Amino acid sequence: MLCRSNDELELLISQARAFAGQGEVAQYIPALAVAHKHELSVALYYPDGKGFMAGDTEENFTLQSISKVLSLALALIDQGEECVFTRVGKEPTGDPFNSIAKLETNKPSKPLNPMINAGALAVTHMIKGNTAGERFERLLDFIRCLTGNETITYNKEIAKSEFETAHLNRALVYFMKEHGVIDEDVEELMDLYTKQCAIEMNCIDLARVGCVLAMDGCDPDTGKQLLPIDVARICKTFMVTCGMYNASGEFAINVGIPAKSGVSGGIMGAVPKKCGIGICGPSLDEKGNSIAGIKLLEMMAKRYSLSMF
Ligand code: DON
Repeated sequence: MLCRSNDELELLISQARAFAGQGEVAQYIPALAVAHKHELSVALYYPDGKGFMAGDTEENFTLQSISKVLSLALALIDQGEECVFTRVGKEPTGDPFNSIAKLETNKPSKPLNPMINAGALAVTHMIKGNTAGERFERLLDFIRCLTGNETITYNKEIAKSEFETAHLNRALVYFMKEHGVIDEDVEELMDLYTKQCAIEMNCIDLARVGCVLAMDGCDPDTGKQLLPIDVARICKTFMVTCGMYNASGEFAINVGIPAKSGVSGGIMGAVPKKCGIGICGPSLDEKGNSIAGIKLLEMMAKRYSLSMF
């Protein structure tokens, strides 16, 4: 039985919230450090267009790494599968999301997958448009279409804060430029990427995007095909193998749904053929995943038999 009650979700939130104290909000992007550690929200979106939610659902949060799934979808639509995977690989790393280590040791020198920062930067590089501004507008329009929410935009303060402090990501871009993975202006790509990561929404919008992926690219409200089936399939596969970084294996065993996390504390879940899930809880574990969010997903997976394995 799937959950169709806000009260039931509220109960799960109150149990999961207790774990928030064991983590910390992200510090390396200064504007994220002011987030409230004990906030937690969840929404479920079903293929019949119905949604359920609980917790601090009105709070907007930035997508951060969750945006990597959506930029990948757009790059696949723009460039095709063959072209995209000439610049980025398909394998999990077992390393932290911002690691540079395997970029140097892997030959040829291309990022191992699109979910780590290096891979996501290479993917954002492939989004089509005449200018960086036009590429960002195309990504924003694409995300507005997936959420069904025309008001989606980005948080200027958080984008600026990351742009000013993203020394490690700049290093990744310079390294990839040296090796021919990227051939555009570094600052332009950094501007586009940091805006992409700062795109904001609430957990209901996020659950709806998860539902589109869960339904193989189909809009839950209109039945329109928003993404090619293969693009949705590739995105969900990366969510399983790399979506929670070096915690992806443990998460697959304990939860068992395609999911993607971000350092703002967001997690998007796509339960194949069943529902989309949007969560935000800014307190993170040592691997950069929402600590209460993961607990909540563990509880939900057990209670509603969500694991696909
Ligand atoms: O590039 C970064 O470091 C951030 N904008 C996104 C990283 C992130 O969300 C990692 N996820 N847990």
